[in-house]
Amino acid sequence: MKFKLPYSSQNWVSLIGATIALISLFMIGFLFFISLFLGQGGLYLGLVIYIMLPAVLIAGLILIPLGMLLTVRKERRIGKVEQPPWPRIDLNDSRHRNGFFIFLFGTTVFLFLSALGSYEAFHFTESVQFCGTLCHHLMEPEYTAYQHSPHAKVACVECHVGPGADWYVRSKLSGAYQVYATIFNKYPRPIPTPIKNLRPARVVCEQCHWPQKFYAHKLRYETHYLPDKENTQWDIRLIMKIGAEHSALGLKEGIHWHINTNIKIQYVSPSENVEDIPWVRSINLATRDTVVYRDENNEISDREVDSLTIHTMDCIDCHNRPSHNYRPPAIFINEAMTAGEIPKDLPEIKSISMEFLDREYSTTDSALMSIKEGITNFYRENYKDIYNNKKDVIEKAITGVQNSFSKNIFPEMRVRWDAYPNHIGHQEFKGCFRCHDGSHLAQNKQVIPKNCNLCHLISAQGTPGKMEIAKVGEALDFKHPVDIDEAWREMLCTECHTGVNP
Ligand code: HEC
Ligand code: HEC
Ligand code: HEC
Ligand code: HEC
Ligand code: HEC
Ligand code: HEC
Repeated sequence: MKFKLPYSSQNWVSLIGATIALISLFMIGFLFFISLFLGQGGLYLGLVIYIMLPAVLIAGLILIPLGMLLTVRKERRIGKVEQPPWPRIDLNDSRHRNGFFIFLFGTTVFLFLSALGSYEAFHFTESVQFCGTLCHHLMEPEYTAYQHSPHAKVACVECHVGPGADWYVRSKLSGAYQVYATIFNKYPRPIPTPIKNLRPARVVCEQCHWPQKFYAHKLRYETHYLPDKENTQWDIRLIMKIGAEHSALGLKEGIHWHINTNIKIQYVSPSENVEDIPWVRSINLATRDTVVYRDENNEISDREVDSLTIHTMDCIDCHNRPSHNYRPPAIFINEAMTAGEIPKDLPEIKSISMEFLDREYSTTDSALMSIKEGITNFYRENYKDIYNNKKDVIEKAITGVQNSFSKNIFPEMRVRWDAYPNHIGHQEFKGCFRCHDGSHLAQNKQVIPKNCNLCHLISAQGTPGKMEIAKVGEALDFKHPVDIDEAWREMLCTECHTGVNP
């Protein structure tokens, strides 16, 4: 018996469609086994197996019925055979029977493979590799900062795609837009923050850090180097009051008081990145006490407040850089010096590196070149002795500055510290002082406090060997490392500190 198929399937379009579908199916299978057994290919192979080839396969499959439809319509037009409006399937006709069973079998296999494939595709698009490296230039800053963050082992989707199906859909929609924007080079530089629909929410962080978990006081030890000839070291030891002093008090006091379930802090901001906060409302859900604070230096009318979105404070209002923290030069150079990557005994290295990190560059390569040339010339002109006898020390310093630059500043994407202010702290960015600046007053003149012992206690400060140390349970009055005549009491730190030394 000869194997026959319906007349309508015998046309070029269907034939080409079937060939395309079969070839791509074969390639998917082949590449899948390669990636499975040889463990090779990585990201781009995944892109081909799970996204590109299936698209080609589906296009091929669509061509089969399309070709059949076109043939039937053509025949109807020339009146070759009389055609009813819908196909008539007669299983007693061997042509129809063959066609029908091929369709049934093919569809079953296709649905089964699609289920398998979408599961794999799901995992593939959720991987850190996919998110972090596929659109290489686009995500390079986020990915690099992420790898140096405390969340380096937490997958991107754990934060950017919250629990539940609606989050999944939201993230894929905005992901699809991003792929489009990348391919057509349409994305804004720097990527605006928050990315619509992908801003992590409180539930996201609480999967791993639940607020009932008590965080005690924590000791911070910060080392600074002044921009003088000796790179004078200045250490500050702070006790951060994250929770209360005694765990039994829980969230009743301390910094995490803001996330106490009885407290709701709301605010409005005219700027997208919420750097100015002229209006704050604090609601105690247990006592129903409500206090509204207004910034007396930045007045805003009730009409304007009504026209703005009211934000409710959550983890991201303070921890907005938990995994993409682009540190300012003043900080990352201090860290590299402490780590020994930049020699501390090279005179003026702190101040001279600031000079080159303050400039705007258009590419990483030109920045690294300028840093190298600039620092070399500086020592050749000003410290001949060192330049002639200790070239290796200068080389080491240059590499140290270049490495820290590459981890924190990304000229191609216009990403640097001032593009993404960090909201924790108050020295280089307004951070906590957006509200705690001493000028946010309630009607009864109650103020959101700026008291230096509210959030932390300074337990030691000064140059090593000559440190001023507090008695147990007491705190020191802050001493500014250079003499600025107590200006820090009235002024905000950010009025002088901008990330590169003033
Ligand atoms: C610990 C949680 C966390 C993880 C893990 C994480 N992110 Fe983020 N991401 C954030 C937060 C928080 C923001 C800032 C949101 C805001 O300011 O509203 C952000 C912002 C971004 C932005 C917007 C630009 C910017 O820098 O603000 C991009 C792009 C981004 N993340 C990509 C990634 C990629 C790619 C990965 C994985 C390599 C990743 N994220 C992993 C929490 C996370
Ligand atoms: C999948 C789990 C997970 C999620 C989700 C997560 N984190 Fe973390 N987080 C961790 C782990 C693990 C650490 C490292 C703990 C350690 O070092 O002991 C950490 C550390 C931290 C730290 C301490 C950093 C330090 O300097 O030591 C902060 C702050 C933090 N996370 C905030 C957040 C915020 C804010 C979010 C929500 C955007 C978040 N985390 C989401 C797992 C997670
Ligand atoms: C009012 C600002 C603020 C809010 C809101 C806030 N935090 Fe924090 N959190 C801090 C500060 C400040 C620290 C201390 C960080 C430091 O020492 O630099 C901290 C520390 C932490 C730590 C590290 C604790 C340790 O022992 O190292 C984790 C984890 C953390 N927060 C998670 C969260 C989560 C999750 C939320 C939301 C449910 C949240 N925080 C809300 C300000 C805040
Ligand atoms: C959106 C405004 C806002 C921001 C931003 C903000 N706070 Fe607050 N904070 C408040 C308000 C309002 C109060 C309550 C003041 C009062 O007691 O009247 C408060 C109180 C506090 C308290 C005292 C809690 C207690 O009762 O023991 C601490 C500590 C604190 N904040 C730390 C911080 C830290 C640290 C940051 C930055 C990481 C920060 N806050 C950022 C609004 C804010
Ligand atoms: C609303 C809370 C809050 C208040 C009020 C506050 N600070 Fe801080 N301060 C912080 C936080 C949070 C950090 C930690 C920043 C970080 O994690 O990088 C910090 C860090 C510091 C540091 C260490 C900076 C470093 O990197 O070495 C100094 C010094 C400091 N504060 C001084 C002061 C002085 C002086 C005052 C009073 C004018 C003050 N603070 C008031 C929250 C506060
Ligand atoms: C009137 C301007 C001014 C104000 C206000 C000010 N500073 Fe400074 N600060 C300086 C100068 C100038 C230096 C030293 C030179 C330099 O770093 O360029 C300095 C250096 C420092 C250093 C060490 C330098 C480093 O880069 O590591 C720390 C820490 C510091 N200041 C903390 C603070 C804090 C915290 C506040 C707010 C409470 C503050 N400063 C307010 C001008 C100011």
